[in-house]
Amino acid sequence: MNTPVTESTTIQTDFLPLQGTDYVEFYVGNAKQAAHFYKTAFGFQSLAYAGPETGMKDKVSYVIRQNKLTFVLTTPLRTDNPIADHIYKHGDGVKVIALKVEDATSAFEETTKRGGKSYMVPTTLKDDKGEVVISGIHTYGDTVHLFIERRNYNGVFMPGFREWKTNYNPTSTGLLYVDHCVGNVGWNQMNPWVKFYEDVMGFRNILSFDDKDISTEYSALMSKVMSNGNGYVKFPINEPAEGKKKSQVEEYLDFYNGEGVQHVAIATADIVATVTELQKRGIEFLNIPPSYYETVLDRVGKIDEDLQPLQDLGILIDRDDEGYLLQIFSKPLEDRPTLFFEIIQRKGAKSFGKGNFKALFEALEREQEARGNL
Ligand code: FE2
Repeated sequence: MNTPVTESTTIQTDFLPLQGTDYVEFYVGNAKQAAHFYKTAFGFQSLAYAGPETGMKDKVSYVIRQNKLTFVLTTPLRTDNPIADHIYKHGDGVKVIALKVEDATSAFEETTKRGGKSYMVPTTLKDDKGEVVISGIHTYGDTVHLFIERRNYNGVFMPGFREWKTNYNPTSTGLLYVDHCVGNVGWNQMNPWVKFYEDVMGFRNILSFDDKDISTEYSALMSKVMSNGNGYVKFPINEPAEGKKKSQVEEYLDFYNGEGVQHVAIATADIVATVTELQKRGIEFLNIPPSYYETVLDRVGKIDEDLQPLQDLGILIDRDDEGYLLQIFSKPLEDRPTLFFEIIQRKGAKSFGKGNFKALFEALEREQEARGNL
């Protein structure tokens, strides 16, 4: 079940060539404060702003950036607004996974003719720095994919935004780019969404985990990893599976009030330095028991790093045929037990930490139990 599918030798034209993640947009209750939190705790820099002062009357967006990682934090200014409805229903969460394309019109046509449901027809935004073309389709829950074509634009972010300059510029924590974004979907919905990514977006299923791979004594889930042709964009899809108690995916679905983004995994080139800095700035991660570190090297073999700092920080290790990876998972980033971040450093491995699932899910269950939701 978990053997990577080998690359097809048949050369097929990718009908949806993606250049990577352009940005991730969060709908939040208070974007001004959220921007301050992400800057302070995660080391983002202010990049751009849009709001009434730039002609956007009903909402405010702050754009923050760190290396190739761009977040947009958006809040509605009035109650009678679909963004306000989104926040009422889901709490703070990811609304948009925006994908960078060469041609947003073609991306829209190719995906909608294959069954993708339109969210935004190709729309050209212009200012004196050029133009950006945006289109978009719906995915699971209320989440959407936007296709962003910015080859004819040299402004700071996109038309409608102005540069956001500030004297408050916390240093980077070494976060580099989005490695993958995981979606939680409902019971028996994993395969329909796998088919959506295959049929509508031309993705391939590169890894699968069944409930035997991902179960503890109490709860279970199933997961399939979807990847686009060049591997720049990877979307694992989780669904709950039957266990003795409520699975973490069910807890998410309850509190998010539907399907949505469970975690954003962010790459770093030095996980020890990054996580040391994040912890210093107040970010909390799942606690891993010392027993994990007693046997981990028997399982993964020799690694370049000293084990002690990894144990002190709670960083997990896993190996596949191509190398190993180091990863750690934050506690939820808001009061609802919904969205969290993973920090990942890949040292050759292209997989997702299957060997850590048991330790990880047991750590999650301890948190779930403390919330009374197991
Ligand atoms: Fe992940």
